[in-house]
Amino acid sequence: MLDVREYVLKTPPGGVKRYDHEALCDLLKVEDYSRVIFEQGVGREAIVRVYPSNPLMDVRAVDVDDLVMDARGRITLGTYFDGSPLRFRLFDPKTGNAQRGAVFGTTGAGKSRLVQAILIACKASGIVVHLADLKHGQSVPEAKGNVATRVTTQYETILMLRGLVAEAERRMTSYAEMGRSGFVINSPDPLTYGIVDEANRLLEKGAPFRDEAALLIKELGRTGRSVGVGIIIAAQAGHLDELGGSDTLRGMLKEGEVILLRWSSAMMQQLVSDGLLPRGESLQPIPKVVGQVRRIRRYNEQRADDEDDVNSQGMLYHLTGIRPTSMARTYVVGSIEPCTGYDPVILDLYGPHAPPGETIDLEEHMTAKERQTAGGGPQEGMAGAGPDPEPEPEPDISRMSTAQRILAALPADGLAEVDLMAVLEADGGRRIARASVRTNISTLRAKGLIARPDETKLIVPAPAD
Ligand SMILES: Nc1ncnc2c1ncn2[C@@H]1O[C@H](COP(=O)(O)OP(=O)(O)O)[C@@H](O)[C@H]1O
Ligand SMILES: [Mg+2]
Repeated sequence: MLDVREYVLKTPPGGVKRYDHEALCDLLKVEDYSRVIFEQGVGREAIVRVYPSNPLMDVRAVDVDDLVMDARGRITLGTYFDGSPLRFRLFDPKTGNAQRGAVFGTTGAGKSRLVQAILIACKASGIVVHLADLKHGQSVPEAKGNVATRVTTQYETILMLRGLVAEAERRMTSYAEMGRSGFVINSPDPLTYGIVDEANRLLEKGAPFRDEAALLIKELGRTGRSVGVGIIIAAQAGHLDELGGSDTLRGMLKEGEVILLRWSSAMMQQLVSDGLLPRGESLQPIPKVVGQVRRIRRYNEQRADDEDDVNSQGMLYHLTGIRPTSMARTYVVGSIEPCTGYDPVILDLYGPHAPPGETIDLEEHMTAKERQTAGGGPQEGMAGAGPDPEPEPEPDISRMSTAQRILAALPADGLAEVDLMAVLEADGGRRIARASVRTNISTLRAKGLIARPDETKLIVPAPAD
């Protein structure tokens, strides 16, 4: 390869335990840290490559052909840094198993675009999708009309998940009667997925249906798989514990498909301690801004206006793939420029035909008690009158002070400062300068409203008492 410097390093037995990317770059005298790619090789070998610029900066647009499931049940979502394809499994023809999958990453890392690619893949491959888009339907709006079921509230999601579990049970009984031990695709049932974007909203502490949601997802992960009913979630979470507590996801994901996009520091530690990331393997961090050179500025020198623009969206590690520690990136999915309505590129990828499968009848999965409370049927019951305590009115960001926005942005276990900045940039309010955030943080600390319990999480709300 042209202009690529390569170093093969001997590592201690078992690989590199701790890896300091910045120190390595400084040692190599490379100022743009994203040009250096570190990869743990097999055995006692690690490879460091120095590129003229980050090799993942120019990925191509996705094509429907990439997303049609191949004979081995895989789709191609993107590329590794060295150009080899990033494959994601939706079906295992050898065992007849559907998959369980999870996509993790901080806000703006590219989770929803990746979900969108999976949704397009399912439609193109005859896979039935029941989708929950828990950001009021804003995360993957083009999915409307392109999936069998689409819900946008937490209560509807519970009904949908109950429906999926019921379908898995129906299949189990029916296959047993047929004297068959496993799932055969489209004979007679189609491969089916429940997909939940922003699953953290459903599973986080204090969420109204947390326990049932965790139970249903666990159930799908356990029994759905062998009868062709899979589950995929996308979530922004600091800890797996936040997602339903206990070991709901831990066990499920160890054998599933796990993708990690740009993360927060707390998340990383958790993935290692959960065993999702093998101990002794190190991941080079995914920077928010690729191609940036850190430099000392002269007094009152202005930062360039675009210097903080995120450009690493879609960069990821496929933790359960064949190269868990190699940096990869999803192809470009949809328009780069924001659209005023549905993204025409994405609509085009879905195509005009009707999606496979039948809509889950949500009302059918209400309990008798819920039906009573819901009163006049699903139309009114679904949105508010039912047992669904949400949606609470969204707070009006434009009227909140910087301090209020900081407090609203902080989850129970806190955030690193970079992640807090990312949330504040994405919360819809006016832009707040880092200096102002810092000033507010010290004021809030002084008032005892936030605390700093350890070094990894810079900012954490003080206990309630
Ligand atoms: N694969 C991708 N192709 C094109 N643009 C992307 C891709 N991934 C992320 N983006 C850009 O980044 C923004 C945030 O991505 P999104 O998927 O909404 O993040 P998340 O769901 O993790 O918050 C998108 O609106 C889009 O502009
Ligand atoms: Mg999203």
